[in-house]
Amino acid sequence: MEPGYILLFGRLHPLILHFPVALLMLAAFLEVLPRLSNKKFGAGYNLATWVVLCFGALSAVIAASMGLTLAASGSYDGAAVASHKFFGLSVATLACLSVLLKLFAEEKTSGVLKILYSSALSLCVVAIFIAGHYGGNLTHGSEFLPSAAPEPIASWLREEKDTNIIRASNDQFSQTIEPIITEHCVSCHGDSKQEGGLRFDDHDVVMAGGESGIPAIVPGKALSSEMVRRLFLPRSDKKAMPPDGRSRPSDAQLVTIMDWIEAGAPCEGESSGPSQLMADYLGQDAVPATNEALAALDEAGVVYYLMSEDNPLLNVDLSLKTYDTATIEKLLSPIAEQVAWLNLSFNEIDEDTIRLVSKFPNLTRLSLAETGVDDSMLRSISDIDTLTSLNLTGNPVTAQLVEQFKDMPALLTLYIWDTAIEGEDAIKIKDSFADVNVILGGNFILPSTDTE
Ligand code: HEC
Repeated sequence: MEPGYILLFGRLHPLILHFPVALLMLAAFLEVLPRLSNKKFGAGYNLATWVVLCFGALSAVIAASMGLTLAASGSYDGAAVASHKFFGLSVATLACLSVLLKLFAEEKTSGVLKILYSSALSLCVVAIFIAGHYGGNLTHGSEFLPSAAPEPIASWLREEKDTNIIRASNDQFSQTIEPIITEHCVSCHGDSKQEGGLRFDDHDVVMAGGESGIPAIVPGKALSSEMVRRLFLPRSDKKAMPPDGRSRPSDAQLVTIMDWIEAGAPCEGESSGPSQLMADYLGQDAVPATNEALAALDEAGVVYYLMSEDNPLLNVDLSLKTYDTATIEKLLSPIAEQVAWLNLSFNEIDEDTIRLVSKFPNLTRLSLAETGVDDSMLRSISDIDTLTSLNLTGNPVTAQLVEQFKDMPALLTLYIWDTAIEGEDAIKIKDSFADVNVILGGNFILPSTDTE
């Protein structure tokens, strides 16, 4: 949806909804208080209750219309929105009904109407809690509360989920890349400031480059991307990014950025790059993972996506938490046929895990950065005929092992940055892997802008 009053109206929902919540609960409290105490409350008290209730109902109607506008703006879907909508609209309806019933109850001084009024207002308060719960899930994700709660509250909060719902398909960009750029670059290259004419919120500018006219990102070619060159320059270099004194992305984040550019720098919903093409090809005959297997991933907090809406293969990321080898094997075995992309970085990995993974029939991309793997553990890797991208960054692997990968039929990108492969060895590997993009990092990265 285009920026404008309607979009703004919708986005104010999270702000305005606090008014009906507070006012309607206060109205209920004001109604209960006289019944709890024996004191007589005067006409002024009743007037105050009226004011609170009417403003509560009015703000509920406004907040609900804002919510409907927000939901229509497109970026929400799924069961949580439907539930939130239902209970949010119930709050507005019950609040208005309460106003009418209070009005009639006072006019007719009827006992039945009074009971109906109390029931409507009580239901309204219940609906506020439920709507709030689903609303919270929408903004923070459904794991926000359960992940902080002790058992058995945590299991109670985790409802049965329809794990077959497609998540925002393969959204590597907004999950991993956007946060890095937001944290480290946007203060100088965003909408308020565009140093060097570069702004990361404009796809065309990024692809064309800023004042230098050198593309900041060349999809599929990390080493030709000015952004990567600047990130790897020595801190003392005037052209280094971010400039001296500013926080720099971690090594793991640099690998993530390079990995993403090598995969074709796909932004939200886009797919490209050899590992995706290969996965799409293999996915044609693939059967979807079982609900139990996906539920186990959900429960373990593993991030996973379908490769695309019509490709049931999975992109599975275990790098955001650490898992022990037994858990990794338990989680991966049931989805052996579905895993296309697998990120095991930063976990402790043993030889059995590698052997298991080497048998995955549809694996096209594997990241084992900083997992402690060495030559002896990795021998079975060369059996993976479908692998297009292999990341071994930060492990004590040697040229002897990597030489064996030369005959892997699909391999196109190999990360051996920060390994035991240095000097002469590195040059030899680079030469012998003519068709493979070998990413070495360190001093081997980008001597000058002109790396084509
Ligand atoms: C404190 C401000 C600041 C931050 C933070 C910053 N930059 Fe820059 N950037 C600049 C300035 C100033 C220039 C222009 C001077 C130059 O070319 O070195 C520039 C230029 C660039 C250019 C060259 C643009 C062109 O085509 O001329 C690239 C690429 C770049 N920055 C990438 C990044 C990346 C990637 C990050 C985040 C990791 C980042 N910058 C963070 C200030 C910043």
